[in-house]
Amino acid sequence: MSEQRAGGSPRPPGETAPRHLLAVSDLTRDDVERILDTARALSRTLDREVKKLPTLRGRLVVNMFYESSTRTLSSFDLAAKRLSADTMSLRSSGSSVDKGESLRDTALTLAAYDPDVIVVRHPHIGAPQVVAAATDAHVVNAGDGKHQHPTQALLDLYTIREAFDRLDGVHVAIVGDVLHSRVARSLIEALAIVGARVTLVGPPTLVPWEIEEMGCSVSHEIGAIADADVVYVLRMQRERMLPGSAFVPSLREYTTLYGITPDRVRAGQVVMHPGPMNRGVEIDPRVADSPAALVTTQVRAGLVVRMAVLYDLLTRGPAGTSRVRLADPGGTAWNDLAIPAAPPLEVA
Ligand code: NCD
Repeated sequence: MSEQRAGGSPRPPGETAPRHLLAVSDLTRDDVERILDTARALSRTLDREVKKLPTLRGRLVVNMFYESSTRTLSSFDLAAKRLSADTMSLRSSGSSVDKGESLRDTALTLAAYDPDVIVVRHPHIGAPQVVAAATDAHVVNAGDGKHQHPTQALLDLYTIREAFDRLDGVHVAIVGDVLHSRVARSLIEALAIVGARVTLVGPPTLVPWEIEEMGCSVSHEIGAIADADVVYVLRMQRERMLPGSAFVPSLREYTTLYGITPDRVRAGQVVMHPGPMNRGVEIDPRVADSPAALVTTQVRAGLVVRMAVLYDLLTRGPAGTSRVRLADPGGTAWNDLAIPAAPPLEVA
């Protein structure tokens, strides 16, 4: 029997994992669990003196970033390097994109170097699909407009699972500008895959009732976060709002009504934020710097989860396409193996 995707359509026989990671709907529950387990195995390398693994030696990972990024770009770059892949990062400013080159032409140019993976961030929805259609590389969506940011969702699941030792039944309140948030859209879908409960909290202009169709509860009262295990705070994404539009009367009023202050967080709750944080707007600095805040834990999770995603794509794509070098359990000798379906990663 073929595995059902979250999106519903069965995966073609012989494909044990998606070829690309463009949206959370590419993932089944098995995919999510396998990636999180691989990330956990990889996390053991973080405390070592020598942190590099030879797993993807000889592979090329290209980062194409058409939007600003700190965490996502640095973690994809480091993730590829920690697995010994070669990396190249192209930002739109300072490249031929400045001179009017189209996304497809830039992708074709980079494809001439035969990259194994292209990681794409772009302000327009669907840009990663354009790159996937133009090249033979595995493509990872690192954020397209307000649409999807699947690796952020995976690293958030990883962080929650490490904090609570489970995902099933965990209650997550997502607070703030849900309307413009690719992080929220991906996270809501990912939490549904693993059986977590979601409440969206914010003003009606930024958390419309229709979002309930995604299978979550909606509240316009900040008090609704009290029940949650996780308070997930979103940034007010002004760059994605139409010029002149007013989604909140003022930032000060937003902060008064929905800002996450120490008195709104109860003991036992954890607070998460994808970054970049606007301290004093959506999150009080006293909360951001408190032990309840898992913001830097999320960044650390981002590294191992992106290592796991790269590993997964390069070792589990359509049968016969992958040749990776795996260490023997002792980690000293090398075998060149064709791997149609990789075993769980062993980190000695
Ligand atoms: C987010 C993004 O760019 O989508 N940040 C991130 O990737 N960590 C969230 C945001 O911009 O607010």
